[in-house]
Amino acid sequence: MMKVDTGIIKNNTYIGKDVYKMEIQTDLADEVQCGQFVEVEVPNYFLRRPISVCEVKEDHTIVLVYKVVGDGTRFMTTMHDEISLFGPCGNGFPVVDEDVLLIGGGVGVPPLLQTAKEYKKIGKNVSVVVGFNTKEDAILIDELKEYSDALYIATMDGSEGTKGTVIDAINENNVDCEYVLSCGPLPMLKAINTKYKKGCISLEARMACGIGACMGCVVKDSEGNSLRVCKDGPVFPIGKVML
Ligand code: FES
Repeated sequence: MMKVDTGIIKNNTYIGKDVYKMEIQTDLADEVQCGQFVEVEVPNYFLRRPISVCEVKEDHTIVLVYKVVGDGTRFMTTMHDEISLFGPCGNGFPVVDEDVLLIGGGVGVPPLLQTAKEYKKIGKNVSVVVGFNTKEDAILIDELKEYSDALYIATMDGSEGTKGTVIDAINENNVDCEYVLSCGPLPMLKAINTKYKKGCISLEARMACGIGACMGCVVKDSEGNSLRVCKDGPVFPIGKVML
């Protein structure tokens, strides 16, 4: 894990409601695994922002996709040139010898793109199911299509794909794959924990240090042990964490 000052080559690309893309040329591109995140320094803000890596490109570029939810992330849309990153952080998704079902919700979708690429690279069948509130919130659909064998969308208001949750889309389309990797909001991860036995979920947490030192991001496992989302996760086997 290292701190690097590096260069933004593109930022502020609008890809969905309040969601933007930043492309950064950095040596971290050689190290980062799918599902890991970086801590982004936002000038004049004390805490770094944990942002998962959406994609690693061949030209030493990583792509971050972030949602504007407050002043810090709004400031991120104005950043150009230099950026200070710390990472790669966390454990990332495993890449195993199995066909995979990737399930994402909202801003949990970005890390699934690099994960889909990694599974295609080793010749596995990749199914993707993504859920959003409305069609306007949908992100990265064309990119995910490029690296998947089947892609289904669910929206809560029915404006695109199946009306309802990702579980409704899985049932409606008879998506049949046992090994699941997932990232998204807590209710979605709870439903996945109930429905599936094999695979992993990636948790979101408010993070202060991002390196396992402050215990600000602790969750409990089923035996009551403390786990740090930033260091022991954010990816945990299905069923391990009390949600
Ligand atoms: Fe400090 Fe995880 S954010 S221990």
